[in-house]
Amino acid sequence: MNAAFVPRRIAQLEPFIADVANRLLDGVEQHTHVDVIAAFAAPLTFRMICAILGVPRELDNAATRDTLMATIAPAPGVDAARSEGDLHALLDVLIAGKRAGGERSGVDLLGALVQASDDSGAMSEEELRSTAYLLLLVGHDTTMNLIGNGLLALLRNPGQAARLTGPEAGSEAGPSPVGTAVEELLRYDSPVRDATFRCAAQPIRLHGQLIGEGDIVSLLIGSANRDETRFTDADRLDVGRTPNDHLAFGYGPHFCIGAALARLEGAVAFPLLLRRLGPVQLAKPADELPWRPARVMRGLAALPVVRT
Ligand code: HEM
Repeated sequence: MNAAFVPRRIAQLEPFIADVANRLLDGVEQHTHVDVIAAFAAPLTFRMICAILGVPRELDNAATRDTLMATIAPAPGVDAARSEGDLHALLDVLIAGKRAGGERSGVDLLGALVQASDDSGAMSEEELRSTAYLLLLVGHDTTMNLIGNGLLALLRNPGQAARLTGPEAGSEAGPSPVGTAVEELLRYDSPVRDATFRCAAQPIRLHGQLIGEGDIVSLLIGSANRDETRFTDADRLDVGRTPNDHLAFGYGPHFCIGAALARLEGAVAFPLLLRRLGPVQLAKPADELPWRPARVMRGLAALPVVRT
């Protein structure tokens, strides 16, 4: 899977990401009230992972997104077993489409996985299905949260947002403010709260607490990224922060394979959103914004703004 996500390959997607982002913003140009999640962050990020996986356009829609999201945070009153059944049916259609030689445009990672698995038997049908599910879900939910949480942070810190749109943005003088801004937004309000579970290979004493050999450890990324012993003024948003050794994408052998894609989507999305939405305000106080209930992810259910 790594081959599909290497930075060199991902960089080629930049014009496509910018095109999709601009079209979505064309769609809200006439509106005063905009929910940035529903109108922009959700469709943009889903479109990108669908393009990489080779999901046919007719399945790249809000209904498919709802089916996926219902598996981690079912809407009130929705039967979990039914969501799972819907998801299975969706993945079976996708995989069968690849076997039947369906749409093979772009990277078509899913087509390649199905073929590799059929040729070598390296993956069972269940593994294929769960890999497709994982990629569709994390390729979308995480980056959607980066855009939502990140824009919220910028709206609450207008001085920092101005550094992205002001004359020094993209200057040759130092590291690109957009690049450092994306890293800082990843750190400041991390889209993924917990890393993959770890199992202690040997006993470790940490802050007076003994973690025994074989203990399962849940690593809280959101907390680590605000560690005041690692980051000066950890609770302050500074879009020019360097160095910025945050852990938003995890660490070590399980480091996120989608990091280059997420970074590029963020680098395209933030300046475009700020420029094309123009002056905006939150439509309700920040502490009344709805967050999606989820253990691992941290993201807004809606980000309503008013263009002024
Ligand atoms: C802002 C966006 C994203 C964030 C914050 C994020 C964060 C993470 C984190 C924290 C991990 C666990 C790392 C660890 O435990 O050391 C991870 C793993 C992973 N991520 Fe992402 N991710 C993002 C976007 C993506 C995208 C776009 C994809 C694309 C498919 C993706 C695919 C994966 C996969 C497959 C893994 C498992 C890697 C492994 O276990 O070897 N992620 N990600």
